[in-house]
Amino acid sequence: MIYLDYASTTPIRKEVLNTYEKLLERYYANSDSLHDLGRESAKLMEQSRANIAQLFHVLEEEIIFTSCASESNNYAIKGYAWKYMHRGKHLITTCVEHSSVHNACKQLAEHFGFEVTYLPVLENGCVDVKALKKALRKDTILVSIMMVNNETGAINPIKECADYVHANSRAAFHVDAVQALGKIPVDLSYVDMATFSAHKIYGLKGSAILYKKKMIELLPLISAGQQEFNLRGGTSNVCTNIVFAKTLRLILEEQQAHFDYVSRLNKRLRKFLKEENDILINSDIQGSPYILNVSARYVGSEILLNALNERGFAVSAKSTCASKSKAISHVLMAMGLGEQRATHSIRISLSHLTTDAEVDSFASALKEVCHVYRTK
Ligand SMILES: Cc1ncc(COP(=O)(O)O)c(C=O)c1O
Repeated sequence: MIYLDYASTTPIRKEVLNTYEKLLERYYANSDSLHDLGRESAKLMEQSRANIAQLFHVLEEEIIFTSCASESNNYAIKGYAWKYMHRGKHLITTCVEHSSVHNACKQLAEHFGFEVTYLPVLENGCVDVKALKKALRKDTILVSIMMVNNETGAINPIKECADYVHANSRAAFHVDAVQALGKIPVDLSYVDMATFSAHKIYGLKGSAILYKKKMIELLPLISAGQQEFNLRGGTSNVCTNIVFAKTLRLILEEQQAHFDYVSRLNKRLRKFLKEENDILINSDIQGSPYILNVSARYVGSEILLNALNERGFAVSAKSTCASKSKAISHVLMAMGLGEQRATHSIRISLSHLTTDAEVDSFASALKEVCHVYRTK
């Protein structure tokens, strides 16, 4: 099987797996226990937190370990909204966010009396900054905008948005940087909160981070013990949290080399697909090279996915979290591409592990599928 679904998840890296296995055998003690074994676990976990903080140029107490980016997003949005609702109940996000942001906002609106503005995107899939400027109000307490869109790879102007929000309001700025980490530079100096996930960077599933500026307080979503600065109760996932630091260091060390390599692959794939009249490219050329969203003129997404799967290619349509729903891609619709194109799309996501030969055979298979099913 040729795997071209790296935006969904990545295979675990050998070095990370080896370290993790060794850690599991040795550091089984509860990091909150006061005996030597517990202290040893805690020490290594705090060292990992410190290393992560150093890699992001932030403070140790600004790194919160969580179980997945969906959890981090829920913490950032609900934890913040509940803590600061006395200041106002208006939230701003975009209409193309991951479901964990979208549904957290929706829940706050439906059950807790918040008002949410969903910003539109431009044709290239990037947030409409003018709309953000118009939407910002006195009672806006939080703005959440993703850095890289998981369906199209569109890269948002996060600095411009965050700077505007900070200069013109008291609102905090949260960024979902899951599809950016290890792929493009991520600068946390101008945001208040940020979300990252380990399984998108060749790390473990069940492992993620929320970056939160020291001054910001959140209401705990898991009310329990003292773990994670009293924010997230439950026995710490010690070994998983320890190995995050290594996962992050390795991916950042190779970020530029991987970016250059994947950019070349993306160009190659685009060139092949452009030659084909039946295929339309939905991802903007300025976006992340790791994600290429395309539509077939005459074949629907489900048929494309199944036919490609039968031929040995693993790709997605929409985001994987919404793959089982029949709903149309809200991202492509928001870009104004129309229903036909939105229901005929697939997402190809690339990696430094992808080869030229894989890209070439995928392009041929997609062309063939488009022709075979067009005539049926
Ligand atoms: C942009 C974005 N945010 C959040 C998530 C959720 O990540 P996790 O699987 O760690 O909950 C994903 C996963 O696809 C994503 O692409």
